Amino acid sequence: MADKNIENEIKKRRTFAIISHPDAGKTTLTEKFLLFGGAINTAGSVKGKANSKYAVSDWMDIEKERGISVTSSVLQFNYEGYCINILDTPGHQDFSEDTYRTLMAADSAVMVIDASKGVEAQTIKLFKVCVMRHIPIFTFINKMDRDARDTFELLDEIENVLGIRTCPMNWPIGSGKEFKGVYDRETKMVDTFEAISTGGAKKAAETQYHIEDQELKDLIGPYLYDQFKEEIELVDGATDEVDLEKVQKGELSPVFFGSALNTFGIDMFLNYFLKMTTPPLGRMSDQGVIDPVTEPFSAFVFKIQANMNKAHRDRIAFMRICSGKFEAGMEVYHAASKRKLKLSQPQQLMAQDRKIVEEAYAGDVIGVFDPGLFSIGDTLTVPGKKFQYEGIPTFAPEHFCRVVQMNTMKRKQFVQGVTQIAQEGAIQIFQEFTAGLSEIIVGVVGVLQFDVLKYRLENEYGCEIRLEPIPYNYIRWVKDPSTDLTKLKRVSDVKKVKDMKGNPLLLFANEWVINQVLEHNEGLELLEFRKN
Ligand code: G4P
Repeated sequence: MADKNIENEIKKRRTFAIISHPDAGKTTLTEKFLLFGGAINTAGSVKGKANSKYAVSDWMDIEKERGISVTSSVLQFNYEGYCINILDTPGHQDFSEDTYRTLMAADSAVMVIDASKGVEAQTIKLFKVCVMRHIPIFTFINKMDRDARDTFELLDEIENVLGIRTCPMNWPIGSGKEFKGVYDRETKMVDTFEAISTGGAKKAAETQYHIEDQELKDLIGPYLYDQFKEEIELVDGATDEVDLEKVQKGELSPVFFGSALNTFGIDMFLNYFLKMTTPPLGRMSDQGVIDPVTEPFSAFVFKIQANMNKAHRDRIAFMRICSGKFEAGMEVYHAASKRKLKLSQPQQLMAQDRKIVEEAYAGDVIGVFDPGLFSIGDTLTVPGKKFQYEGIPTFAPEHFCRVVQMNTMKRKQFVQGVTQIAQEGAIQIFQEFTAGLSEIIVGVVGVLQFDVLKYRLENEYGCEIRLEPIPYNYIRWVKDPSTDLTKLKRVSDVKKVKDMKGNPLLLFANEWVINQVLEHNEGLELLEFRKN
Protein backbone atom coordinates (compact mmCIF):
# COMPACT_ATOMS: atom_id res chain seq x y z
CA MET A 1 0.00 0.00 0.00
CA ALA A 2 1.35 3.35 -0.94
CA ASP A 3 1.56 6.07 1.64
CA LYS A 4 -1.32 8.49 0.91
CA ASN A 5 0.89 11.50 1.43
CA ILE A 6 3.49 10.22 -1.03
CA GLU A 7 0.75 9.45 -3.54
CA ASN A 8 -0.69 12.97 -3.24
CA GLU A 9 2.71 14.56 -3.65
CA ILE A 10 3.48 12.52 -6.76
CA LYS A 11 0.08 13.23 -8.30
CA LYS A 12 0.83 16.96 -8.07
CA ARG A 13 4.04 16.61 -10.06
CA ARG A 14 4.43 17.68 -13.67
CA THR A 15 7.95 17.42 -15.07
CA PHE A 16 8.68 18.79 -18.51
CA ALA A 17 11.39 20.22 -20.72
CA ILE A 18 11.13 23.14 -23.08
CA ILE A 19 12.72 22.73 -26.47
CA SER A 20 13.23 25.28 -29.19
CA HIS A 21 15.53 26.62 -31.80
CA PRO A 22 17.66 29.38 -30.20
CA ASP A 23 15.84 32.71 -30.02
CA ALA A 24 12.33 31.32 -30.39
CA GLY A 25 11.63 32.43 -26.82
CA LYS A 26 12.30 29.43 -24.57
CA THR A 27 13.98 31.51 -21.86
CA THR A 28 11.28 34.15 -21.93
CA LEU A 29 8.56 31.52 -21.67
CA THR A 30 10.33 29.77 -18.78
CA GLU A 31 10.59 33.05 -17.01
CA LYS A 32 6.91 33.78 -17.45
CA PHE A 33 6.01 30.38 -16.06
CA LEU A 34 8.08 31.18 -13.01
CA LEU A 35 6.42 34.55 -12.65
CA PHE A 36 3.07 32.81 -12.63
CA GLY A 37 4.24 30.41 -10.00
CA GLY A 38 5.52 33.28 -7.89
CA ALA A 39 9.01 31.74 -7.93
CA ILE A 40 10.52 34.99 -9.16
CA ASN A 41 9.26 38.53 -8.90
CA THR A 42 10.67 40.32 -11.87
CA ALA A 43 11.18 39.38 -15.45
CA GLY A 44 14.80 39.30 -16.49
CA SER A 45 15.98 37.35 -13.48
CA VAL A 46 16.22 33.98 -15.15
CA LYS A 47 18.84 34.65 -17.69
CA GLY A 48 21.73 36.86 -18.42
CA LYS A 49 21.39 36.03 -22.04
CA ALA A 50 20.88 32.85 -23.98
CA ASN A 51 24.33 31.29 -24.09
CA SER A 52 24.12 31.01 -27.85
CA LYS A 53 25.25 34.58 -27.95
CA TYR A 54 28.46 33.99 -26.07
CA ALA A 55 31.86 32.89 -27.17
CA VAL A 56 33.12 29.81 -25.41
CA SER A 57 35.24 31.66 -22.86
CA ASP A 58 32.26 33.78 -21.90
CA TRP A 59 30.25 30.65 -21.57
CA MET A 60 32.77 29.17 -19.18
CA ASP A 61 32.86 32.37 -17.18
CA ILE A 62 29.12 32.40 -16.87
CA GLU A 63 29.16 28.85 -15.65
CA LYS A 64 31.81 29.75 -13.13
CA GLU A 65 30.06 32.80 -11.93
CA ARG A 66 26.84 31.01 -11.28
CA GLY A 67 28.23 27.69 -10.12
CA ILE A 68 25.61 25.77 -11.93
CA SER A 69 24.16 27.85 -14.66
CA VAL A 70 20.48 28.35 -14.76
CA THR A 71 20.43 27.23 -18.36
CA SER A 72 21.27 23.71 -17.32
CA SER A 73 19.26 23.51 -14.17
CA VAL A 74 15.89 22.43 -13.00
CA LEU A 75 13.36 24.94 -11.84
CA GLN A 76 10.62 23.99 -9.46
CA PHE A 77 7.55 26.01 -8.59
CA ASN A 78 3.99 25.58 -7.40
CA TYR A 79 0.99 26.69 -9.41
CA GLU A 80 -2.70 26.05 -8.75
CA GLY A 81 -2.03 23.03 -6.57
CA TYR A 82 0.55 21.52 -8.95
CA CYS A 83 4.24 21.16 -8.32
CA ILE A 84 5.96 21.90 -11.60
CA ASN A 85 9.50 20.95 -12.54
CA ILE A 86 10.86 22.62 -15.64
CA LEU A 87 13.98 20.98 -16.94
CA ASP A 88 15.79 23.75 -18.68
CA THR A 89 18.05 23.03 -21.59
CA PRO A 90 20.97 24.95 -23.06
CA GLY A 91 20.09 27.16 -25.97
CA HIS A 92 23.21 26.63 -28.02
CA GLN A 93 22.95 23.80 -30.47
CA ASP A 94 26.50 22.68 -29.74
CA PHE A 95 25.25 21.56 -26.36
CA SER A 96 22.29 19.71 -27.76
CA GLU A 97 23.61 16.42 -26.39
CA ASP A 98 22.77 17.87 -22.99
CA THR A 99 19.29 18.63 -24.16
CA TYR A 100 18.87 15.11 -25.47
CA ARG A 101 19.67 13.69 -22.09
CA THR A 102 17.47 16.15 -20.27
CA LEU A 103 14.58 15.01 -22.44
CA MET A 104 15.14 11.51 -21.11
CA ALA A 105 14.25 12.82 -17.66
CA ALA A 106 11.13 14.70 -18.79
CA ASP A 107 7.58 13.38 -18.83
CA SER A 108 6.50 15.79 -21.55
CA ALA A 109 7.94 18.52 -23.72
CA VAL A 110 6.92 21.99 -24.71
CA MET A 111 8.10 23.00 -28.14
CA VAL A 112 8.42 26.74 -28.68
CA ILE A 113 8.20 27.94 -32.25
CA ASP A 114 8.77 31.45 -33.55
CA ALA A 115 5.58 32.37 -35.45
CA SER A 116 7.51 34.19 -38.15
CA LYS A 117 10.03 31.41 -38.70
CA GLY A 118 8.14 28.18 -38.22
CA VAL A 119 9.93 24.89 -37.64
CA GLU A 120 13.69 25.43 -37.51
CA ALA A 121 16.63 23.03 -37.69
CA GLN A 122 17.23 22.62 -33.98
CA THR A 123 13.56 21.99 -33.28
CA ILE A 124 13.59 19.08 -35.71
CA LYS A 125 16.55 17.42 -34.03
CA LEU A 126 15.16 17.73 -30.52
CA PHE A 127 11.72 16.79 -31.62
CA LYS A 128 12.99 13.45 -32.91
CA VAL A 129 14.18 12.60 -29.40
CA CYS A 130 10.74 13.35 -27.97
CA VAL A 131 9.18 11.12 -30.59
CA MET A 132 11.54 8.32 -29.67
CA ARG A 133 10.33 8.53 -26.10
CA HIS A 134 6.64 8.83 -27.03
CA ILE A 135 6.16 11.67 -24.59
CA PRO A 136 3.41 14.28 -25.03
CA ILE A 137 4.56 17.29 -27.01
CA PHE A 138 2.80 20.62 -26.60
CA THR A 139 3.45 23.41 -29.07
CA PHE A 140 3.59 27.08 -28.15
CA ILE A 141 3.73 29.33 -31.19
CA ASN A 142 5.36 32.45 -29.88
CA LYS A 143 5.84 36.07 -30.92
CA MET A 144 2.35 36.61 -32.29
CA ASP A 145 2.89 40.29 -31.59
CA ARG A 146 5.27 40.21 -34.58
CA ASP A 147 4.17 39.54 -38.14
CA ALA A 148 3.52 35.83 -38.22
CA ARG A 149 3.27 33.31 -41.00
CA ASP A 150 -0.18 32.10 -41.99
CA THR A 151 -1.63 30.00 -39.18
CA PHE A 152 -2.69 27.09 -41.40
CA GLU A 153 0.71 27.11 -43.05
CA LEU A 154 2.43 26.90 -39.66
CA LEU A 155 0.31 23.93 -38.62
CA ASP A 156 0.92 22.22 -41.96
CA GLU A 157 4.62 22.70 -41.53
CA ILE A 158 4.61 21.11 -38.07
CA GLU A 159 2.66 18.17 -39.45
CA ASN A 160 4.77 17.74 -42.56
CA VAL A 161 8.26 18.46 -41.25
CA LEU A 162 7.88 16.89 -37.83
CA GLY A 163 5.38 14.23 -38.77
CA ILE A 164 3.02 14.78 -35.84
CA ARG A 165 -0.67 15.62 -36.07
CA THR A 166 -1.70 18.94 -34.53
CA CYS A 167 -4.81 20.22 -32.82
CA PRO A 168 -4.98 23.96 -32.25
CA MET A 169 -6.40 24.59 -28.80
CA ASN A 170 -6.66 28.28 -29.42
CA TRP A 171 -6.57 30.36 -32.58
CA PRO A 172 -4.89 33.72 -33.14
CA ILE A 173 -6.74 36.73 -34.47
CA GLY A 174 -4.28 38.57 -36.68
CA SER A 175 -0.61 39.04 -35.87
CA GLY A 176 1.98 41.77 -35.51
CA LYS A 177 0.43 45.22 -35.20
CA GLU A 178 -2.91 43.61 -36.03
CA PHE A 179 -2.69 40.97 -33.32
CA LYS A 180 -6.02 41.15 -31.50
CA GLY A 181 -5.95 38.10 -29.28
CA VAL A 182 -6.55 34.37 -29.12
CA TYR A 183 -9.77 32.42 -29.31
CA ASP A 184 -10.20 29.48 -26.95
CA ARG A 185 -11.86 26.81 -29.09
CA GLU A 186 -13.29 24.97 -26.10
CA THR A 187 -14.88 27.87 -24.22
CA LYS A 188 -15.55 29.96 -27.37
CA MET A 189 -14.11 32.95 -25.54
CA VAL A 190 -11.59 35.40 -26.94
CA ASP A 191 -8.79 36.86 -24.81
CA THR A 192 -8.02 40.19 -26.42
CA PHE A 193 -4.49 41.45 -26.64
CA GLU A 194 -3.01 44.79 -25.86
CA ALA A 195 0.76 44.96 -26.01
CA ILE A 196 2.72 46.06 -23.02
CA SER A 197 5.66 48.36 -23.36
CA THR A 198 8.01 46.65 -20.92
CA GLY A 199 8.83 43.01 -20.44
CA GLY A 200 8.75 43.59 -16.69
CA ALA A 201 4.99 43.92 -16.35
CA LYS A 202 3.32 40.76 -15.21
CA LYS A 203 0.76 40.45 -17.95
CA ALA A 204 -0.43 42.08 -21.14
CA ALA A 205 -3.75 43.82 -20.77
CA GLU A 206 -6.51 41.45 -21.77
CA THR A 207 -10.27 41.25 -21.63
CA GLN A 208 -12.47 38.27 -22.40
CA TYR A 209 -15.36 38.31 -24.84
CA HIS A 210 -17.62 35.62 -26.26
CA ILE A 211 -16.99 35.04 -29.94
CA GLU A 212 -20.43 36.46 -30.83
CA ASP A 213 -20.13 39.48 -28.57
CA GLN A 214 -20.79 42.74 -30.47
CA GLU A 215 -18.10 44.48 -28.44
CA LEU A 216 -15.56 42.01 -29.78
CA LYS A 217 -16.68 42.65 -33.37
CA ASP A 218 -16.33 46.39 -32.81
CA LEU A 219 -12.97 45.95 -31.18
CA ILE A 220 -11.32 43.96 -33.92
CA GLY A 221 -13.16 45.54 -36.87
CA PRO A 222 -15.43 43.87 -39.46
CA TYR A 223 -12.71 42.82 -41.88
CA LEU A 224 -10.54 40.99 -39.38
CA TYR A 225 -13.59 39.60 -37.59
CA ASP A 226 -15.03 38.05 -40.77
CA GLN A 227 -11.68 36.62 -41.69
CA PHE A 228 -11.32 35.17 -38.19
CA LYS A 229 -14.82 33.60 -38.32
CA GLU A 230 -14.03 32.02 -41.68
CA GLU A 231 -10.81 30.60 -40.31
CA ILE A 232 -12.63 29.16 -37.30
CA GLU A 233 -15.17 27.43 -39.52
CA LEU A 234 -12.38 26.00 -41.56
CA VAL A 235 -10.33 24.92 -38.59
CA ASP A 236 -13.32 23.27 -36.90
CA GLY A 237 -13.86 21.24 -40.03
CA ALA A 238 -10.26 20.49 -40.94
CA THR A 239 -8.25 19.79 -37.83
CA ASP A 240 -8.08 16.82 -35.52
CA GLU A 241 -10.34 16.56 -32.49
CA VAL A 242 -8.56 16.72 -29.17
CA ASP A 243 -7.87 13.10 -28.41
CA LEU A 244 -6.24 12.89 -25.00
CA GLU A 245 -4.97 9.39 -25.54
CA LYS A 246 -3.15 10.43 -28.71
CA VAL A 247 -1.75 13.51 -26.96
CA GLN A 248 -0.40 11.38 -24.14
CA LYS A 249 1.23 8.98 -26.58
CA GLY A 250 2.90 11.87 -28.38
CA GLU A 251 0.95 11.34 -31.59
CA LEU A 252 -1.01 14.57 -31.50
CA SER A 253 0.37 17.93 -30.42
CA PRO A 254 -1.98 20.50 -28.87
CA VAL A 255 -1.02 23.89 -30.29
CA PHE A 256 -1.29 27.27 -28.56
CA PHE A 257 -0.58 30.76 -29.82
CA GLY A 258 0.64 33.66 -27.75
CA SER A 259 3.43 36.02 -26.89
CA ALA A 260 5.81 35.09 -24.12
CA LEU A 261 7.34 38.53 -23.95
CA ASN A 262 3.92 40.05 -23.40
CA THR A 263 2.87 37.31 -20.97
CA PHE A 264 -0.04 36.68 -23.29
CA GLY A 265 -1.58 33.25 -23.70
CA ILE A 266 0.62 31.81 -20.95
CA ASP A 267 -2.10 31.11 -18.39
CA MET A 268 -4.34 29.53 -21.02
CA PHE A 269 -1.44 27.37 -22.07
CA LEU A 270 -0.51 26.34 -18.53
CA ASN A 271 -4.06 25.51 -17.53
CA TYR A 272 -4.65 23.22 -20.50
CA PHE A 273 -1.18 21.76 -20.26
CA LEU A 274 -1.63 20.80 -16.62
CA LYS A 275 -5.03 19.27 -17.29
CA MET A 276 -3.87 17.31 -20.32
CA THR A 277 -0.63 15.88 -18.95
CA THR A 278 -0.27 13.14 -16.37
CA PRO A 279 1.78 12.88 -13.20
CA PRO A 280 4.93 10.75 -13.53
CA LEU A 281 4.11 7.36 -15.03
CA GLY A 282 5.81 4.02 -14.54
CA ARG A 283 9.27 3.74 -16.07
CA MET A 284 10.72 0.70 -17.80
CA SER A 285 13.50 -1.18 -16.04
CA ASP A 286 15.20 -4.52 -16.65
CA GLN A 287 12.60 -5.96 -14.29
CA GLY A 288 9.55 -4.45 -15.92
CA VAL A 289 7.75 -1.19 -15.31
CA ILE A 290 8.45 0.47 -11.96
CA ASP A 291 5.39 2.13 -10.51
CA PRO A 292 6.12 5.66 -9.27
CA VAL A 293 3.71 5.50 -6.35
CA THR A 294 3.84 1.99 -4.94
CA GLU A 295 7.59 1.45 -5.28
CA PRO A 296 10.06 3.03 -2.85
CA PHE A 297 12.70 5.54 -3.90
CA SER A 298 14.48 5.02 -7.20
CA ALA A 299 16.19 7.42 -9.58
CA PHE A 300 18.55 7.59 -12.52
CA VAL A 301 21.37 9.98 -13.34
CA PHE A 302 20.79 12.00 -16.50
CA LYS A 303 23.32 14.74 -16.20
CA ILE A 304 26.69 15.30 -14.60
CA GLN A 305 28.09 18.75 -14.27
CA ALA A 306 31.62 19.56 -13.27
CA ASN A 307 32.14 21.93 -10.45
CA MET A 308 33.93 24.86 -11.94
CA ASN A 309 35.89 25.41 -8.78
CA LYS A 310 39.37 24.24 -9.74
CA ALA A 311 40.37 23.51 -6.17
CA HIS A 312 37.69 20.87 -5.81
CA ARG A 313 37.37 18.64 -8.78
CA ASP A 314 33.98 17.48 -7.61
CA ARG A 315 30.87 17.25 -9.63
CA ILE A 316 27.13 17.43 -9.32
CA ALA A 317 25.11 14.48 -10.56
CA PHE A 318 21.55 15.32 -11.46
CA MET A 319 19.10 12.54 -10.94
CA ARG A 320 15.48 12.19 -11.82
CA ILE A 321 13.46 10.50 -9.12
CA CYS A 322 11.24 7.89 -10.76
CA SER A 323 9.48 6.38 -7.79
CA GLY A 324 8.75 6.98 -4.15
CA LYS A 325 10.15 9.54 -1.79
CA PHE A 326 13.68 10.73 -1.25
CA GLU A 327 14.72 11.81 2.20
CA ALA A 328 17.96 13.56 3.04
CA GLY A 329 20.44 11.19 4.61
CA MET A 330 18.76 8.03 3.36
CA GLU A 331 20.89 5.11 2.27
CA VAL A 332 20.64 4.17 -1.40
CA TYR A 333 22.02 1.40 -3.55
CA HIS A 334 24.11 2.27 -6.60
CA ALA A 335 23.91 -0.70 -8.94
CA ALA A 336 26.87 0.25 -11.15
CA SER A 337 29.39 0.19 -8.27
CA LYS A 338 27.37 -2.35 -6.26
CA ARG A 339 27.69 -0.01 -3.29
CA LYS A 340 25.37 1.34 -0.65
CA LEU A 341 25.85 5.02 -0.12
CA LYS A 342 24.38 8.17 1.32
CA LEU A 343 23.75 10.90 -1.18
CA SER A 344 25.65 13.94 0.05
CA GLN A 345 24.40 17.47 -0.09
CA PRO A 346 21.26 16.80 -2.08
CA GLN A 347 20.23 20.05 -3.69
CA GLN A 348 17.30 21.38 -5.54
CA LEU A 349 17.24 24.48 -7.62
CA MET A 350 14.61 27.12 -7.41
CA ALA A 351 15.25 29.81 -9.98
CA GLN A 352 18.71 31.04 -8.98
CA ASP A 353 18.82 29.65 -5.50
CA ARG A 354 20.14 26.31 -4.55
CA LYS A 355 18.73 24.82 -1.43
CA ILE A 356 19.37 21.63 0.43
CA VAL A 357 16.52 19.20 -0.07
CA GLU A 358 15.01 17.46 2.88
CA GLU A 359 12.58 15.45 0.81
CA ALA A 360 11.68 15.01 -2.83
CA TYR A 361 9.29 12.82 -4.77
CA ALA A 362 8.94 10.94 -8.04
CA GLY A 363 9.00 13.56 -10.77
CA ASP A 364 11.54 15.75 -8.98
CA VAL A 365 15.16 16.22 -9.85
CA ILE A 366 17.88 16.53 -7.27
CA GLY A 367 21.54 17.34 -7.71
CA VAL A 368 23.94 15.45 -5.48
CA PHE A 369 27.63 15.76 -4.81
CA ASP A 370 29.45 13.24 -6.98
CA PRO A 371 32.90 12.11 -5.91
CA GLY A 372 33.47 10.63 -9.38
CA LEU A 373 31.27 7.62 -8.81
CA PHE A 374 28.35 8.26 -11.08
CA SER A 375 27.97 7.91 -14.81
CA ILE A 376 25.12 9.04 -16.98
CA GLY A 377 22.36 6.46 -16.98
CA ASP A 378 23.17 4.97 -13.53
CA THR A 379 20.25 3.72 -11.46
CA LEU A 380 19.82 4.28 -7.73
CA THR A 381 17.38 2.30 -5.62
CA VAL A 382 16.79 1.53 -1.98
CA PRO A 383 19.05 -1.28 -0.72
CA GLY A 384 17.54 -4.64 -1.52
CA LYS A 385 16.06 -3.57 -4.85
CA LYS A 386 18.37 -4.33 -7.70
CA PHE A 387 16.68 -3.27 -10.92
CA GLN A 388 18.16 -0.93 -13.46
CA TYR A 389 16.39 1.60 -15.61
CA GLU A 390 16.80 1.49 -19.35
CA GLY A 391 19.97 3.27 -20.44
CA ILE A 392 20.15 6.75 -21.88
CA PRO A 393 21.05 6.71 -25.55
CA THR A 394 24.42 8.09 -26.52
CA PHE A 395 23.98 10.12 -29.63
CA ALA A 396 26.26 9.87 -32.57
CA PRO A 397 28.87 12.64 -32.54
CA GLU A 398 29.27 14.47 -35.83
CA HIS A 399 32.72 16.00 -35.47
CA PHE A 400 35.93 14.21 -34.70
CA CYS A 401 39.44 15.28 -33.72
CA ARG A 402 42.60 13.48 -32.82
CA VAL A 403 43.84 14.76 -29.47
CA VAL A 404 47.55 15.38 -29.28
CA GLN A 405 48.96 15.91 -25.85
CA MET A 406 51.66 18.60 -25.80
CA ASN A 407 53.42 17.61 -22.59
CA THR A 408 53.76 13.87 -22.38
CA MET A 409 54.91 14.11 -18.76
CA LYS A 410 51.37 14.86 -17.77
CA ARG A 411 49.96 11.64 -19.12
CA LYS A 412 48.12 10.76 -15.91
CA GLN A 413 46.33 14.10 -15.65
CA PHE A 414 45.50 13.95 -19.33
CA VAL A 415 43.90 10.52 -19.13
CA GLN A 416 42.03 11.49 -15.96
CA GLY A 417 40.81 14.74 -17.48
CA VAL A 418 39.63 13.23 -20.73
CA THR A 419 37.95 10.34 -18.94
CA GLN A 420 36.15 12.57 -16.46
CA ILE A 421 34.94 14.98 -19.10
CA ALA A 422 33.72 12.02 -21.14
CA GLN A 423 31.87 10.66 -18.08
CA GLU A 424 30.00 13.93 -17.91
CA GLY A 425 28.86 13.23 -21.44
CA ALA A 426 30.23 16.44 -22.98
CA ILE A 427 32.52 14.49 -25.26
CA GLN A 428 32.87 10.91 -26.37
CA ILE A 429 36.26 9.30 -26.55
CA PHE A 430 37.43 6.57 -28.85
CA GLN A 431 40.63 4.75 -29.46
CA GLU A 432 42.23 3.44 -32.60
CA PHE A 433 41.00 -0.15 -32.80
CA THR A 434 44.40 -1.69 -32.64
CA ALA A 435 46.35 0.88 -30.64
CA GLY A 436 46.25 1.45 -26.90
CA LEU A 437 45.63 4.78 -25.26
CA SER A 438 48.32 6.33 -27.44
CA GLU A 439 45.82 7.81 -29.85
CA ILE A 440 42.67 9.31 -28.52
CA ILE A 441 39.92 10.43 -30.83
CA VAL A 442 37.30 12.74 -29.49
CA GLY A 443 33.84 12.99 -30.97
CA VAL A 444 31.40 15.78 -30.21
CA VAL A 445 27.92 16.72 -31.28
CA GLY A 446 28.70 20.44 -31.49
CA VAL A 447 32.12 21.89 -32.35
CA LEU A 448 32.04 24.32 -29.44
CA GLN A 449 32.57 21.31 -27.21
CA PHE A 450 36.11 20.97 -28.62
CA ASP A 451 36.88 24.42 -27.26
CA VAL A 452 35.36 23.53 -23.93
CA LEU A 453 37.49 20.36 -23.82
CA LYS A 454 40.69 22.28 -24.57
CA TYR A 455 39.82 24.99 -22.07
CA ARG A 456 38.97 22.57 -19.32
CA LEU A 457 41.99 20.30 -19.84
CA GLU A 458 44.24 23.34 -19.60
CA ASN A 459 42.47 25.03 -16.73
CA GLU A 460 41.35 22.15 -14.59
CA TYR A 461 43.96 19.51 -15.33
CA GLY A 462 46.95 21.59 -16.44
CA CYS A 463 47.28 19.73 -19.77
CA GLU A 464 47.88 21.49 -23.03
CA ILE A 465 46.52 19.74 -26.06
CA ARG A 466 46.31 20.21 -29.81
CA LEU A 467 43.22 19.10 -31.65
CA GLU A 468 43.67 17.80 -35.20
CA PRO A 469 40.42 17.48 -37.11
CA ILE A 470 39.96 14.17 -38.90
CA PRO A 471 37.73 13.96 -41.97
CA TYR A 472 34.86 11.84 -40.67
CA ASN A 473 31.35 12.98 -39.90
CA TYR A 474 29.44 9.82 -39.22
CA ILE A 475 29.89 7.19 -36.58
CA ARG A 476 28.11 3.89 -36.26
CA TRP A 477 28.22 1.30 -33.51
CA VAL A 478 28.64 -2.23 -34.80
CA LYS A 479 25.59 -3.97 -33.37
CA ASP A 480 27.28 -7.29 -32.75
CA PRO A 481 30.42 -6.48 -30.68
CA SER A 482 31.98 -9.83 -31.59
CA THR A 483 32.14 -8.87 -35.29
CA ASP A 484 35.68 -9.26 -36.65
CA LEU A 485 36.44 -5.82 -38.06
CA THR A 486 39.48 -7.07 -39.95
CA LYS A 487 37.20 -9.17 -42.15
CA LEU A 488 35.01 -6.29 -43.30
CA LYS A 489 35.02 -5.47 -47.01
CA ARG A 490 35.13 -2.05 -48.69
CA VAL A 491 36.50 -0.33 -45.61
CA SER A 492 39.57 1.44 -47.02
CA ASP A 493 37.86 4.83 -46.39
CA VAL A 494 36.59 3.82 -43.00
CA LYS A 495 38.26 4.26 -39.64
CA LYS A 496 37.87 1.49 -37.12
CA VAL A 497 37.77 2.55 -33.50
CA LYS A 498 36.49 1.34 -30.15
CA ASP A 499 34.83 3.18 -27.30
CA MET A 500 36.08 3.10 -23.72
CA LYS A 501 34.11 -0.06 -23.06
CA GLY A 502 35.77 -1.78 -26.00
CA ASN A 503 32.73 -1.71 -28.30
CA PRO A 504 33.66 -1.59 -31.99
CA LEU A 505 32.67 1.41 -34.09
CA LEU A 506 33.23 2.67 -37.59
CA LEU A 507 33.85 6.26 -38.69
CA PHE A 508 32.68 7.35 -42.13
CA ALA A 509 33.13 10.45 -44.27
CA ASN A 510 29.62 10.37 -45.67
CA GLU A 511 26.46 8.35 -45.94
CA TRP A 512 27.42 6.97 -49.31
CA VAL A 513 30.35 5.13 -47.75
CA ILE A 514 28.06 3.76 -45.02
CA ASN A 515 25.74 2.35 -47.66
CA GLN A 516 28.66 0.85 -49.58
CA VAL A 517 29.90 -0.94 -46.48
CA LEU A 518 26.44 -2.22 -45.64
CA GLU A 519 25.89 -3.45 -49.18
CA HIS A 520 29.16 -5.36 -49.26
CA ASN A 521 28.96 -6.91 -45.82
CA GLU A 522 25.93 -9.06 -45.54
CA GLY A 523 24.49 -9.34 -42.05
CA LEU A 524 26.41 -6.34 -40.75
CA GLU A 525 24.18 -4.13 -38.61
CA LEU A 526 25.16 -0.59 -37.71
CA LEU A 527 23.52 1.51 -35.01
CA GLU A 528 23.21 5.26 -34.95
CA PHE A 529 23.16 5.43 -31.18
CA ARG A 530 23.80 3.16 -28.32
CA LYS A 531 22.24 2.85 -24.89
CA ASN A 532 24.59 3.20 -21.96
P1 G4P B 1 15.65 31.44 -26.45
O1 G4P B 1 15.77 31.18 -24.99
O2 G4P B 1 14.74 30.47 -27.14
O3 G4P B 1 16.96 31.55 -27.16
O4 G4P B 1 14.92 32.84 -26.66
P2 G4P B 1 14.76 34.08 -25.67
O5 G4P B 1 13.71 33.83 -24.68
O6 G4P B 1 16.10 34.52 -25.22
O7 G4P B 1 14.16 35.13 -26.70
C1 G4P B 1 14.87 35.56 -27.84
C2 G4P B 1 14.46 36.97 -28.18
O8 G4P B 1 13.07 37.00 -28.54
C3 G4P B 1 14.60 37.95 -27.03
O9 G4P B 1 14.92 39.21 -27.59
C4 G4P B 1 13.21 38.01 -26.46
O10 G4P B 1 12.95 39.20 -25.76
C5 G4P B 1 12.39 37.92 -27.72
N1 G4P B 1 11.02 37.42 -27.49
C6 G4P B 1 10.63 36.36 -26.75
N2 G4P B 1 9.29 36.22 -26.78
C7 G4P B 1 8.82 37.21 -27.57
C8 G4P B 1 7.53 37.60 -27.97
O11 G4P B 1 6.50 37.03 -27.62
N3 G4P B 1 7.46 38.68 -28.80
C9 G4P B 1 8.56 39.38 -29.21
N4 G4P B 1 8.37 40.41 -30.00
N5 G4P B 1 9.79 39.02 -28.84
C10 G4P B 1 9.94 37.97 -28.02
P3 G4P B 1 16.39 39.77 -27.65
O12 G4P B 1 16.30 41.15 -28.16
O13 G4P B 1 17.28 38.83 -28.39
O14 G4P B 1 16.84 39.70 -26.19
P4 G4P B 1 16.46 40.67 -24.99
O15 G4P B 1 17.44 41.75 -25.08
O16 G4P B 1 15.03 41.13 -25.18
O17 G4P B 1 16.61 39.79 -23.80
